[in-house]
Amino acid sequence: ESTLGAAAAQSGRYFGVAVAANRLSDATYVSIAAREFNSVTAENEMKIDATQPQRGQFNFQAADRVYNWAVQNGKEVRGHTLAWHSQQPGWMQSLSGSALRQAMIDHINGVMSHYRGKITQWDVVNEAFADGSSGARRDSNLQRTGNDWIEAAFRAARAADPSAKLCYNDYNVEDWTWAKTQAMYAMVRDFKQRGVPIDCVGFQSHFNSGSPYNSNFRTTLQNFAALGVDVAVTELDIQGAPSSTYASVVNDCLAVSRCLGVTVWGVRDSDSWRSEHTPLLFYNDGSKKPAYTAVLNAL
Ligand code: XIL
Repeated sequence: ESTLGAAAAQSGRYFGVAVAANRLSDATYVSIAAREFNSVTAENEMKIDATQPQRGQFNFQAADRVYNWAVQNGKEVRGHTLAWHSQQPGWMQSLSGSALRQAMIDHINGVMSHYRGKITQWDVVNEAFADGSSGARRDSNLQRTGNDWIEAAFRAARAADPSAKLCYNDYNVEDWTWAKTQAMYAMVRDFKQRGVPIDCVGFQSHFNSGSPYNSNFRTTLQNFAALGVDVAVTELDIQGAPSSTYASVVNDCLAVSRCLGVTVWGVRDSDSWRSEHTPLLFYNDGSKKPAYTAVLNAL
């Protein structure tokens, strides 16, 4: 196959990309994104601050620009993200307790209703665990509403759009030996045992010298899949874009039947949130990097 998306489709998977609405006027960007990928995640446009800037006033302008571009170009769409400590609008940052809990549920209902039946996977909850060795939840206004905030979000999400796969998404959870990975594993196992609706786990996979790729990532994916959830690589970028690491990540996904696909977090290095890491598959001029060829050959 000659594109990443077509190559991934041969095994029933997708190869996706984060798309930013403000790049859709860049002809080089658009031609690469349209040609190479068959899944799209909005990089920022479906987040809480973008979709509900004022309480009770939803705004889907930028989100719909990304969504409509994706669908018009034949791509599936991953939804990102509904409940998160970051990129909250000011009104939500200042809420707490039962008012915040209700606002979270209202937000899930508002956004998921707008896209009901149109989103393959939703990142319902993003980044709820703390970094480091504690295995604890991250402190946040949402966490302070009660430890059950994550399951409340997933139950609301299932009711709002029963057709979407509901994912928990996080970073630094790829290495099986990390405490954060074990904490996330215990939560997913508990949810499955108690019937809390969860369908998938997203591994952001922002690899860099501080949080490097480890070959036990495949074990992690396998162990989560064995709990009865799908898995996905949701925001892949790798400092320096070494071809061998990119190929390893793709091979890890392909080795796990419940791995749905891989999404890279941007098109060209200049589009990356960590552009100084030159972590992506395309040079700034739009030409293919060695890692691109490594990924295509691995798929
Ligand atoms: C990042 C975007 O790429 C940036 O443009 C934005 O300024 C901050 O957020 N984990 C996530 C993504 O789940 O939403 C983040 O995206 C990167 C880390």
